[in-house]
This record gives sequence, structure tokens and C-alpha cells, in this order.
Amino acid sequence: MAIKNVAVLTSGGDAPGMNAAIRAVVRTAVHYRLKIYGIKYGYQGLVENDLIELHRGSVANIIQRGGTILGTARSREFETSKGMTKAKRTIDRYQIDGLVVIGGNGTMRGANAFMKKFGVKIVGIPGTIDNDLFGTDFTIGFDTAINNALDAVDQIRDTASSLERLFFIEVMGREAGFIGLAVGLAGGAEEILIPETRTSIPELVKRLNENIKKGKKSNIVIVSEGDEAGNAFTIARKVKRALNEDYRVAVLGYIQRGGKPTANDRILASKLGNAAVRALKTGIYGCMVGEVNQKIVYTPFKKTYSKKKRINKKIYQIIRTLSE
Ligand code: F6P
Repeated sequence: MAIKNVAVLTSGGDAPGMNAAIRAVVRTAVHYRLKIYGIKYGYQGLVENDLIELHRGSVANIIQRGGTILGTARSREFETSKGMTKAKRTIDRYQIDGLVVIGGNGTMRGANAFMKKFGVKIVGIPGTIDNDLFGTDFTIGFDTAINNALDAVDQIRDTASSLERLFFIEVMGREAGFIGLAVGLAGGAEEILIPETRTSIPELVKRLNENIKKGKKSNIVIVSEGDEAGNAFTIARKVKRALNEDYRVAVLGYIQRGGKPTANDRILASKLGNAAVRALKTGIYGCMVGEVNQKIVYTPFKKTYSKKKRINKKIYQIIRTLSE
């Protein structure tokens, strides 16, 4: 049966490019003469019946804006059976026959549970700075986040080399090292510590010591927030015990997640937003749309968060070689 009413929401941590994705979903829906609703604050808006009808003009002038015009949340209520039942009532009230959810692994998990419980037709779009979803080469927001982090690393490098000081810079990424890996390579870091590889403090100390003896003017260690050896402060303290070097720690935090999306993120968001509505129209749902090798692919929700997306270990090696 042809779909008539579509809704879109953003859930979990905001990511730059979410607005570009919302715009693409809305404009594609309008193109196919579908009614389109925007749900506020992620799944919580579904639970609380908080939604607005969107039109072509509602998404004008947002492609360049960070954050999400719909607001977002990590809804605990939606995870309960009662909350989900309330959300289903909103779906029924507005006769929503296609739902587009934009977010990270928690969002895809929620979509899978909702679909299983009530048979709602849902398509996901990967929107997270962490880039940790299986089924897409890149997630929306990742490119902007690494560029934001890189600006900060470049600026810190000025101080690091002027004072010949050791820096530990912590980047986001929850339990994934994609941001750390990319920023490490692009920022010319001496060391990167990411959750996907084992961190040995004695080995780190040994290499930093060699760098200092070699006369390296600055040493930057990128630490992924999810590294198993601890956060940047903990690691720095452990290193200090063995290596008597003055050091500073910088936690980049939310500057990575904000700001206007890069061209790459806007392009990806526009392609995936368009693909999501087209998928619903052609009867494809229960999956996330992604881009792999420049082709649109559909991955069942469960696979996107239960299958581990692998880091490219070669990059790790390149970072080591180039900073020797
Ligand atoms: O998932 C995106 C992300 O920014 C992670 O990198 C980070 O660990 C997490 O969100 C922080 O979440 P919150 O803003 O909800 O504390």
C-alpha cells in the first residue's frame, strides 16, 4: 500500500549535518506529495505527542546550521513498554505510515524495538560524530567533528612546540576510536590511544622518551575518551610517574559536536535523507540507509549496532611510521 504520511525525528547526541538530513527528508517527501511531520526531541516527542507539520519552507536556510532544529533527546521513557505504547498512539493518531529516524546506535536500537513491537515502518539515517555504525563508510557529523578537533589540535601544536611541551588531547567517540584515528593522522600526532588497540603505558613512555631524546620539539598524544587505560588526565598522570616531563591536558569536548557542517557532511546528509524517503516509498524499511563505496546500501537495524565496525589498522601503523 502506498504511504501518505511520513514523520522524521533526530535522537541521541546532536551531530552537524542533522539539519541537512531533515531538509532532504522533508524536501523529498514534498516532492512525492507526502505529508511530513517533524517530531520534537527524538522518541520522547513521539511519546508525548509533540510534533509539527513541516513544509518546504520549514527547512529553508538550515542546511548550513549545526545541531538539529527538531531538538533531540536520549529518551528513557521510550525504552519502557508503557512509553512505547504511548508512542504508538501518536503514530496511529496521525496515521504515520513511514518514520525516518536520524541518530546513532541508540537510535537504531530504539527503531528496531519499536518496529518489532508494533510493526511500524521505519528507516534510519546514521547521524553521529562517532562514526561507529556498521553499514556506512561514514556517519553524518563525523567529518565536521574531526575538522573541528583538528583546528584545536593545530592551535595547541603552536604552544606545544613553542614551549617544547608534551600534550595529551582528549577527543570524543564514546567507545570508538574513529575520531582519534582520523585526528591523529591529519594532525600529525606522535601517539594515539584508542579503545580498539591495547594501550601500554610503559611502551608509550618508552616511545615518548625516544622522541624527546631525538630532539622532537613537541609531542602530542591523542586520547580517545573511551580508551581502556583511562581518560587523558589519568593517562597523563601515569606517564608523568615514569617520565619526568612537564605536560598539559586539553579535553576538546563539545566544540567537536557543534558548528556548521562541512561540505562532506552536507552532501552525505542530502543523499541519505533523499534515499530514506525513497526507500519508504518503494517498500524498503526496517533498515538504516548508508553509503558504502559511494553506493546507497540498506542494513537491517540490528546489524548496524551489533556488528562491530572495524577501524583501519593500517592508518594506525601509518601514524606510527610518520611520527617516528
Ligand atoms: O555519541 C556522540 C557523543 O558525543 C560521544 O562521542 C560522547 O561520548 C557522547 O556523545 C556524550 O553524550 P552526552 O552529550 O549525552 O553526554
